[in-house]
Amino acid sequence: MHKKFYITTPIYYVNDVPHIGHAYTTIAADVLARYHRLLGHDVFFLTGTDEHGQKVEKAALERGLTPKAHADLLTVNFQKLWKKLEITNDAFIRTTDREHISVVQELLQKLYDKGEIERRTYEGWYCTPDERFWTEKEIVDNKCPDCGRPVERITEDNYFFLMSRYQDRLIRHIEDHPGYIRPESRRNEVLGFLKSQKLGDLCISRPKARLSWGIELPFDRDFVTYVWFDALVNYLSATRYLSPAAKGSSEPSKREAFWWPADHHLVGKDILTTHSVYWSTMLMALGLPLPGNIFAHGWWTRDGKKMSKSIGNVIDPNEVADAHGVDSFRYFVLREVPFGLDGDFSIETFTTRFNTELANDLGNLLSRVLTMIGKYFDGRIPPPHLVTDENAHPIDLKLRMKASAIPSAIAEELGSLSFSKYLQEVWTLVSLANRYVEENAPWTLAKNKDLDRLGAVLYTLSESLRLIALYLYPVMPSTSQKIWDALGIDKKIAACRMDTEQPWGKLAIGAVIQPGAQLFPRIDKQKNRETKMDMPAEEKKQPAPQPAMTGHEPIGIEDFMKVDLRVGKIISAERVEKSEKLVKLKVDIGTEIPRQVVAGIGKSYTPEELIGKSIVIVANLKPAKLMGIESQGMLLAASNGDLLAVATFDRETKPGSRVK
Ligand code: MSP
Repeated sequence: MHKKFYITTPIYYVNDVPHIGHAYTTIAADVLARYHRLLGHDVFFLTGTDEHGQKVEKAALERGLTPKAHADLLTVNFQKLWKKLEITNDAFIRTTDREHISVVQELLQKLYDKGEIERRTYEGWYCTPDERFWTEKEIVDNKCPDCGRPVERITEDNYFFLMSRYQDRLIRHIEDHPGYIRPESRRNEVLGFLKSQKLGDLCISRPKARLSWGIELPFDRDFVTYVWFDALVNYLSATRYLSPAAKGSSEPSKREAFWWPADHHLVGKDILTTHSVYWSTMLMALGLPLPGNIFAHGWWTRDGKKMSKSIGNVIDPNEVADAHGVDSFRYFVLREVPFGLDGDFSIETFTTRFNTELANDLGNLLSRVLTMIGKYFDGRIPPPHLVTDENAHPIDLKLRMKASAIPSAIAEELGSLSFSKYLQEVWTLVSLANRYVEENAPWTLAKNKDLDRLGAVLYTLSESLRLIALYLYPVMPSTSQKIWDALGIDKKIAACRMDTEQPWGKLAIGAVIQPGAQLFPRIDKQKNRETKMDMPAEEKKQPAPQPAMTGHEPIGIEDFMKVDLRVGKIISAERVEKSEKLVKLKVDIGTEIPRQVVAGIGKSYTPEELIGKSIVIVANLKPAKLMGIESQGMLLAASNGDLLAVATFDRETKPGSRVK
């Protein structure tokens, strides 16, 4: 029996260009759609544009276009962005689609015939420039509370959907289905509102005299449908004409029955009421099942401020993706904020996450493993040597067990749309794999010619990376595929199934690795300034030679204590390209992430002889750039003319211990 999974995003107004808010919901929906496809489910992922109503008519008018011509132009911005962000929507609905219009009219007629819609005279305060009604309580001194212009008393006939009839049933439904509205706090808000106020009826028409850009009421040609009534129906109408064919049938009614109800409607917090109250009661009146869940996420601010066109601080997802990659943008928005809460976007937080989590933790792990396989095993995945659980090394088992436990953790976290926790789960595996490298010190195994153990260690790491990529695929599809390609896996993750790929040991021994470019080249915070500088010779950027101590004023202990000297253990060393002097070191100073130190000792030491040495690191030195590479500290060395001597210890010392 096939499990179906139907997920939707709001359909976006074509009165504006897409921004981070639109991208956020769509990326979240894409992650769930990709994940369910990995599980082998039949997935229908729908997004689209909301093209009728006053806002769109007004935006079109301002540009001197007909609303349809305007919509045709603006809908492309969304479609293009979804392509760029690797969104795998199965369909894109436009509310101006002929088929959608006819479903809206069919449902309106049905409700009208059932007596769920009534014509009434409506009296209220009307703001002509804003084209909206206000209640007596809302107006301020006979003026519009929004724009401050005078309002007029208008009496007009309109059609009302008798929503108030469903108030009690809606309360019961929300109470009986704890997962219906999420997160919990939003559910409580909706329940609180429904229990404390009498629900009114919903005006679902606009006289054509006032607004013509909409779907005509089938029972009264003088009116068009209120934009929200039209828009919400998209979730249902799409199942009839845009959904993948239902298994075993292409008949529209069967397709609707197969896909409806949706499993999740993802929406922003500002449009929760329209979904949880209007849409739910519309479905009740139509005698249709309600969706499984409506999830309201929070809003993004930028540098702590509300985004607005007038301030000019709106985040364009195109820009972030072009500058730093699609996958890192997808990762950031889901990792940074628990889904449901508000979040803030700043280049600083983005850069920090990018450099530490993506470049250091994940990118470096892959490049280290590939470099070692290249160096010690001729670029082929080595055999693991120990194959059964009984004779496996305990630290290998620990990593394996963690890797095997991730799928059920993902199922749980994604089941509750906890994207951030899901990524944190995968990162526990990434961190464990990094620790595994340090604990096993493959470079020492190589030095000691323990090739069996070295092979086992590198196999375990490569296999962990294969699984990390599989688990990250829903969020970072290109990166994951790049990792598989680099490991010599000749398969497309998009076509794979989680259950067949998740068992440990599927990585083929002897596969030829294909190291590519760095997954996440570090973002240089000083980039603009740096790139303007000429860098002809490496020496130009090296720190100025330290003056000799003799002849200086004596300093107090408090001055000396300002220098944070630590024991550091060199865990990797490589020459900096095109430099005779510079060596790039990774130094363990007891922190989770090793320090990267670029030292000018390349003429005195080979990288190999540096690995494993315990040295003295100035740990609180401001990071500096040497040949474009960040150095996060300095090592102590004495110079004997050309030959340098690095300060080391004459006894075993723990990385991170203070030197004083
Ligand atoms: N057309 C309606 C939805 C109809 S669904 C049947 C609409 N469109 S919209 O284009 O104005 O907004 C779409 C979504 O963008 C909403 O979910 C809204 O919450 C979201 N966001 C708008 N600004 C946002 C942020 N600053 N941050 C996060 N999401 C935000 O409403």
